[in-house]
Amino acid sequence: MKLVAKILAVLAAALVAIQFVPVRPTNPPVTSPWTLEGPAKEVLVRACFDCHSHETRLPWYGKLAPASWLLAYDMKEGRAHLNFSAWAEWPAEKQKRRIHEIGEEVQEGEMPPALYTFMHPKAKLSPGDKATLAAWVLSQTQGSPKK
Ligand code: HEC
Repeated sequence: MKLVAKILAVLAAALVAIQFVPVRPTNPPVTSPWTLEGPAKEVLVRACFDCHSHETRLPWYGKLAPASWLLAYDMKEGRAHLNFSAWAEWPAEKQKRRIHEIGEEVQEGEMPPALYTFMHPKAKLSPGDKATLAAWVLSQTQGSPKK
């Protein structure tokens, strides 16, 4: 066998082998759904729900390692910090703090992550989307102590 063919064979075998690593992105049940309606919800669902809810839309490669590992990691970490599918389980003060953080992350351009918007251009926030979220954050956090 030529060297290139050998390398390709090894790579193909490795790709098959890593599929058996039991790390898979999954969607647990939505325990307490998000009750927000309106334009802010549209933006959050489009740009944030894939990592911050139990309603992740997996891309076609989402179940294939190694992409599935990255997705599973993002979903686990993202949900641990902010989970719109278990929202009502948080006390009102914590919800408010999180909404305040959402405003900060969006304003600073930290969320959604750049690699994600590269793969999902529709999740990129337009200036209009950011204004919608900013207005919503303000309406939800007004009159509360910041932090
Ligand atoms: C590709 C997955 C992904 C998407 C999409 C995403 N996030 Fe995140 N988010 C994460 C991960 C992972 C973390 C935890 C690690 C970190 O802070 O970077 C996080 C953390 C956060 C935090 C908590 C920060 C902290 O300091 O605790 C907030 C708030 C947040 N995201 C808001 C959003 C908002 C709002 C959107 C949509 C506009 C969004 N995220 C989209 C993956 C994502």
